[in-house]
Amino acid sequence: MLKVEQLNAWYDHSHVIQGLDFEVQRGEIVTLMGRNGAGKTSTLRTIMGLVGKCSGKVTFDGHDLLARPPHERFHLGLAYVPEERRIVAGLTVLENLQLGLLASERRGEMDAMIDEISQTFPRLKERLHQDGTSLSGGEQQMLAIARAMMAKPRMILLDEPSEGIMPLLVEEMFHLFTRMKAQGTTILLVEQNVERALSISDRAYILDQGKIVHHGVAAELLANAEIQEKYCAV
Ligand SMILES: Nc1ncnc2c1ncn2[C@@H]1O[C@H](COP(=O)(O)OP(=O)(O)OP(=O)(O)O)[C@@H](O)[C@H]1O
Ligand SMILES: [Mg+2]
Repeated sequence: MLKVEQLNAWYDHSHVIQGLDFEVQRGEIVTLMGRNGAGKTSTLRTIMGLVGKCSGKVTFDGHDLLARPPHERFHLGLAYVPEERRIVAGLTVLENLQLGLLASERRGEMDAMIDEISQTFPRLKERLHQDGTSLSGGEQQMLAIARAMMAKPRMILLDEPSEGIMPLLVEEMFHLFTRMKAQGTTILLVEQNVERALSISDRAYILDQGKIVHHGVAAELLANAEIQEKYCAV
């Protein structure tokens, strides 16, 4: 579904992504792992068209992505939940959710989607009419994911969704990812919570200094303490 070939990206003169090759098959959960500064966020941002200078090829469902502006990537069914959650202050939880469908051709289905999302996220359903930024950090992360799901993306890129969130909510979140996968959403996940991420993933790639240094089946990497220690310690 997503194929990345010889991807490079630069911030000014800093060459942060150096010739990445990887792919995500339809229906998979794939995790990108690696230490702080390895280039995980930059990889997701480059796929979404948010890094100014890049080269290589990214194909999504047969479409050449790098030639397209970011909003076209959204319309092709690709969603991105960045590390910073960007919940809009002064808007309620409901209004924040509505934003997720506003730019979509399917905005006529707004009420039906709010119903569907409320079933999936009971915590949000109870809080639809309070200010989005009055939610706890974990709830705001759920809201950011729920907002991205409003447009029924075929694939979602998630950057450290469990960061700073209490264990109970992290568990809830990982169960949610498994359910999203079961419903047909393909997921590319960036996570520091390596063990938990691998336990729900099909495969994983390890990044170090802008390069992929290892990849494999999630269960194999989960059993490989040496690799985890070498490349995934914070
Ligand atoms: N806007 C920017 N301008 C210049 N350099 C940047 C910018 N964003 C990131 N970098 C640099 O690019 C490299 C990769 O950063 P990136 O944020 O992709 O890492 P990461 O793997 O997501 O790390 P973390 O686990 O800390 O989130 C780092 O050296 C970082 O300092
Ligand atoms: Mg990052």
